[in-house]
Amino acid sequence: MKNNLMTEHFEPMVIKDFTPMAGTTQWESPSNIALVKYWGKMGNQIPRNPSVSFTLQNCVTRTQIDWFEKKGNSSELDFYFEGKLKPSFGQRIQKLIATIAEQNTVLNQYSFRISSTNTFPHSSGIASSASAMSACAAGIIDMLRQIREAQDSNPWDEDYFKQQISFYSRLGSGSACRSIYPNAALWGEVSPDLGSNLWATPLDHLLHDDFRQYQDAIVIVDDSTKSVSSTMGHGLMNQHVFSKIRFEEGLRNTETMLNILRTGDISSFIDIVEREALQLHAMMMTSNPSYILIKPNTLAIIEKIRQYRQDSNVPLCFTLDAGPNVHILYPFAFRDKVKEFIETEIIELNPKMNWIADEMGLGTKQI
Ligand code: PMV
Repeated sequence: MKNNLMTEHFEPMVIKDFTPMAGTTQWESPSNIALVKYWGKMGNQIPRNPSVSFTLQNCVTRTQIDWFEKKGNSSELDFYFEGKLKPSFGQRIQKLIATIAEQNTVLNQYSFRISSTNTFPHSSGIASSASAMSACAAGIIDMLRQIREAQDSNPWDEDYFKQQISFYSRLGSGSACRSIYPNAALWGEVSPDLGSNLWATPLDHLLHDDFRQYQDAIVIVDDSTKSVSSTMGHGLMNQHVFSKIRFEEGLRNTETMLNILRTGDISSFIDIVEREALQLHAMMMTSNPSYILIKPNTLAIIEKIRQYRQDSNVPLCFTLDAGPNVHILYPFAFRDKVKEFIETEIIELNPKMNWIADEMGLGTKQI
């Protein structure tokens, strides 16, 4: 793999004697759930501590990118979500393409039509920027690959291709860079020779068998859009009274988590995953201004999970994203028991709540 740690950029793609041609590509990319959280950043989307996540399988964004030669001087981009023109999200996508174009200026010769759909309900409160940004970055990098391969028959190395997708996904939305790789990924520098702040590192090869096919049941406690964005939350970590401790803890927990994933130590996994979730929300509750994203039922579900774990010995645990919904993580072997637990004890808290059965998945792919 190429190492661009010093430059923070990939090498520009040089294309000579180039005639713009229309083309198309379709990519699918999943959401991911962090076990150790990324919360706080500096500079150009550089995380203040490393993070580790499971890649999901069923919560995905599918994106089709059509490109054609721009007319005159202005490059146009139309972004459609679920068949409807969405200029506001289109602006975020346009920004991502402009970033990729800084190094790959051929992109400036094109206009784009981009259409996306999500497999999970748009208003489920599940963060969709990781899947949306990584699907889009994958499509644009594939477009560059197609343009390049029309000129030069040496194919791009597959690892290098994925690393570029991860690099640019990160610039679109930090945590998106982890969605590229199957099953589990690390993002952020753990030590000079482990991890990178610029892209995610695949962890699949080190996973213990007990962490294969891990399940994630996502209980939708509240499907409204969150009141404080992640961007604002990351920003509040700059002046946070506990930031230094949190960043050190994120690094320590990442190191421990890597060991846990290698050795299959599920009880230590439960301990770190739950403390990470609560610490993320503790940061929100103690920032200035403070804010609270969990809801009464988030806490009620957490209590039920802990009680059920104690009574049944089923090794399930909870984690939270930047919102009130609860991710219940557990090994595949306990699928039937956990399903019954959710349908009886959890949904009874509010029969209007939905849940999504997800599990580890294979990462970003062409469709
Ligand atoms: O990728 P962003 O900027 O939306 O931040 C996401 C942060 C968390 O989802 C709360 C944690 C994480 O590591 O995914």
